[in-house]
Amino acid sequence: MINEAGQAARANHLPGSAADQVSQERLWRRHMEMAALGAIPGNGVCRQAFTEEDIAARQLLIGWARARGFTSAQDAIGNLFIRRPGRDPAAAPVVTGSHLDSQPSGGRFDGAYGVLAGLEALEALEDAGAVTERPIEVVAWTNEEGGRFAPGAMGSMVFTGSRALTDCLAITDGEGVRLEDALAATLEATPVDETRAFNFPIAAYIEAHIEQGPRLEAEGVPIGVVTGIQGSRWFEVEVLGESAHAGAAPLKTRRDALQGALAAVQALNQVMADDNDIVRFTVGRFVVTPNSPNTVAERVLFTVDLRHPEAEVLWRLAEAVGPTCEAAVGRCDVRVRKTFSREPCLFDLDVQRAISESARELALPAIQMPSGAFHDAQFLNDVCPSGMIFVPCEKGISHNPAENASPEDLAAGARVLAQTLIRLVDGIKA
Ligand code: GLV
Ligand code: MN
Ligand code: MN
Repeated sequence: MINEAGQAARANHLPGSAADQVSQERLWRRHMEMAALGAIPGNGVCRQAFTEEDIAARQLLIGWARARGFTSAQDAIGNLFIRRPGRDPAAAPVVTGSHLDSQPSGGRFDGAYGVLAGLEALEALEDAGAVTERPIEVVAWTNEEGGRFAPGAMGSMVFTGSRALTDCLAITDGEGVRLEDALAATLEATPVDETRAFNFPIAAYIEAHIEQGPRLEAEGVPIGVVTGIQGSRWFEVEVLGESAHAGAAPLKTRRDALQGALAAVQALNQVMADDNDIVRFTVGRFVVTPNSPNTVAERVLFTVDLRHPEAEVLWRLAEAVGPTCEAAVGRCDVRVRKTFSREPCLFDLDVQRAISESARELALPAIQMPSGAFHDAQFLNDVCPSGMIFVPCEKGISHNPAENASPEDLAAGARVLAQTLIRLVDGIKA
């Protein structure tokens, strides 16, 4: 993929020159400014997709980009692109980024880091006076988290054609707000220079992210070269019973949706049990209706998030979800709907090599590692050579207000990102 012309073009850049312009202070300051949007107690962030806070984050990014002379563009699902031009305006850009939305009780770095490291890399290229053949763009993908409007990775799925925009528009949040309306309000509040089509050609995609696990910190290594991402399935399980008076209705005649749902979760726990602790099985949402102490529940909706690195195991476990719930809910009815499905992905070897080489040039130790979390990069991997850089986070804590990372590690990752962008930007055949 990386051709000889690219190697020659790269020789024109002083190795490390853009990376040397990465400013740890600027990068950290921007994280703190971003983290003020949707700040919650305990140093966390609640900045769910298409909320006021998400809109403010997008506006902040557009403002920073404008101040530096970069242009902005958005597509019809609100994926936001910041462009630093190259010599050839028609060339497909190399793209880097992540997401600005967060979990409802999220941290300051999950997603925001990849976007801010991308912007820092663009500024570093600018400060170094680097001229690239291709443009480089930073992207903030829409609704990666999926906590408000499920599923996650929505912007990158729609962009790459994994999911139709029209399928997403009718999705509602917990308050019954339609995604279509929230999206329209977001687009209106974030005017940009240009409108983009989905799936425009991208030469390569690289995403920087905190690890969200403990390995880098434990091993004292600043850089993870991500080899791939485990597969995932999401389900919504709806258990339907009948509401009844808690004092009067005999237990034997009840169709208690809450008891049915608990039995289903217990049965699923048995199916998912794994002595090797590789299966990831989570029931993260449990909504009881009418949720009253003295009324038998008539409906429970719960979610299943299931992940595994091996496609066959994931497939077998996912196939078991429906029948296991049906067998467990007794006198209740159950409906199981798959809301998200992704096979395990392996990242492009040339991109992995470019990251490893960049880390080596910068004398930063790096290890190869898989990702437990999913990321937009796994969808971009369908349409262009893609890869990811991990940096350590404190004790591996993530999806938690206590999520933390050091300014030094964040800057080291941004330096590797800048260096990798230089390696990739002129080294890929159109
Ligand atoms: C992403 O946030 C994930 O759930 O892996
Ligand atoms: Mn993330
Ligand atoms: Mn996340």
